[in-house]
Amino acid sequence: MGFCRWRIAVAVLLAAEYYLPSSVEADEHEHTYVDKEEVVLWMNTVGPYHNRQETYKYFSLPFCVGTKKTISHYHETLGEALQGVELEFSGLDIKFKDEVMQTSYCDIDLDKAKRDAFVYAINNHYWYQMYIDDLPIWGIVGEADENGEDHYLWTYKKLEIGFNGNRIVDVNLTSESKVKLVPNTRIAMSYSVKWKKSDVKFEDRFDKYLDPSFFQHRIHWFSIFNSFMMVIFLVGLVSMILMRTLRKDYARYSKEEEMDDMDRDLGDEYGWKQVHGDVFRPSSHPMLFSSLIGSGCQIFSVSLIVIIVAMIEDLYTERGSMLSTAIFVYAATSPVNGYFGGSLYAKQGGISQPFPLLPELFSLRLLFLPSHSFSTNKLGYFVLIMCLTSNGRRWIKQMFIGAFLIPAMVCGTAFFINFIAIYYHASRAIPFGTMASSVAVCCICFFVILPLNLVGTILGRNLSGQPNFPCRVNAVPRPIPEKKWFMEPAVIVCLGGILPFGSIFIEMYFIFTSFWAYKIYYVYGFMMLVLVILCIVTVCVTIVCTYFLLNAEDYRWQWTSFLSAASTAVYVYMYSFYYYFFKTKMYGLFQTSFYFGYMAVFSTALGIMCGAVGYVGTSAFVRKIYTNVKID
Ligand SMILES: *[C@@H]1O[C@H](CO)[C@@H](O)[C@H](O)[C@H]1NC(C)=O
Repeated sequence: MGFCRWRIAVAVLLAAEYYLPSSVEADEHEHTYVDKEEVVLWMNTVGPYHNRQETYKYFSLPFCVGTKKTISHYHETLGEALQGVELEFSGLDIKFKDEVMQTSYCDIDLDKAKRDAFVYAINNHYWYQMYIDDLPIWGIVGEADENGEDHYLWTYKKLEIGFNGNRIVDVNLTSESKVKLVPNTRIAMSYSVKWKKSDVKFEDRFDKYLDPSFFQHRIHWFSIFNSFMMVIFLVGLVSMILMRTLRKDYARYSKEEEMDDMDRDLGDEYGWKQVHGDVFRPSSHPMLFSSLIGSGCQIFSVSLIVIIVAMIEDLYTERGSMLSTAIFVYAATSPVNGYFGGSLYAKQGGISQPFPLLPELFSLRLLFLPSHSFSTNKLGYFVLIMCLTSNGRRWIKQMFIGAFLIPAMVCGTAFFINFIAIYYHASRAIPFGTMASSVAVCCICFFVILPLNLVGTILGRNLSGQPNFPCRVNAVPRPIPEKKWFMEPAVIVCLGGILPFGSIFIEMYFIFTSFWAYKIYYVYGFMMLVLVILCIVTVCVTIVCTYFLLNAEDYRWQWTSFLSAASTAVYVYMYSFYYYFFKTKMYGLFQTSFYFGYMAVFSTALGIMCGAVGYVGTSAFVRKIYTNVKID
């Protein structure tokens, strides 16, 4: 049996295991307790209040651990690991419905070094985060007095836990008893637990973390109404263009002379019809282009599916589940990428072979079907490698580029930020010792994304890879005439992104704020509407841009349509600068690079998505208007 199979099985298992939180051990996963059952207080992270992503392990500050040591195993999901969740047991003895009066659980021997650590944390407004039964709790480390000389540590954690039946539905933390930090003293840390009956339903227990006053529906509706006006205007414009171009043809069939003056002005002597012999010429850099389009289609489907899942299920109630879902959906939608990228490349590359896939299928058959002979396997690899390296197989290269474009971009940024994080010892740094999550991500890339992409590519090449364009492509490219400066592709590209950006920037503010200021985003219905509006606006704008470009007898519409939609990303990235300087109080190398690094990733992904959506819409438009062109 080929060991390839075994490896794929392992990868799928790995992915599945990471994706589905293990449900074997666990009250914490079931969220039900019997009386006096252990309730675990997990200490998560500590970090500056203004830098929400700069987090360190709770015990990186010299806090002391409670006396209770035994603890059941904690299982981390991939999403949590990537988000830097670092749960450590607090050592506090808490039992369900068991009141604890103020009890000291440990002492801190405050020497000079420990005092300095606390003073540093207090001066930087450190706060910490804990979890009880997946409910997050936040507390402040300490306080400085006005002139900043004396520093105080909160030593008493007063927990009030609300229960409803056998479930925990509410947790409040009050910090009390501040103690002045004086070197060479002992500081006793204490806690108390009070249990209260509560009427909050278990399903609604996260509602108190949502912030309806921030996510005001009025603002959302206003923004959507605004964008909707834009949509109506643009759709009107596009249908006018379509009608003009198409009507002219019908008019031509019936009676040539009936063309009105305006038609003659923008008529046949110059204009889009002149470039019919070049408009379906392959774009420059077809490999990169089709990879970008494929990736963009994939990002679009991922966004769509994740938003729908988030609308149906409250993903915010479980740590890291949003990220896990996104990774899972991304892997599962790889065929989309392969299909669109592969078919576009086949159309553009136009390398036709009598039996395009025979050698690949042959080699894959050798590799994947059970065979007991080692030499068959070797032959399979040999043929596959020959296929990969031979020149007529450039589509495989395209498939690799398409499959790894986005993962490489994300991983590259993460890697870079990790280096800075390690320098800072932030808990976001994926520990290089275990690297479990990196290995998992690599496994998903190679054993899930790549094969699925291959399937999509093969389907795409065979089902819609034929370049059946309505017009023939001339052998010699037509020279592009001189034109006004505002008809240059570069100018069109710059202007193209303005309207799509205008239709989303209000929602961007909410999305940024929920990500960077730790408000829970929950109005996914609005997000869905905004996505739909964004797509319509993008398609309309690129169609209009392309129409102007073609009318200027410039046939390089493919990259122009992609880039004019993708330039939305540039505006979003510029907006993120504004957001950083005026809406946040982040500071420090780590947080800054984290912010700008991931904003760049986000903007690029958004840009690729818009570009692909714009291109797909525009190519349908171009195909439509040239279908009726009669070449005399
Ligand atoms: C926590 O605080 C909120 C707001 O002050 C209060 O409504 C709720 O009852 C408290 N919960 C518990 C368990 O004390």
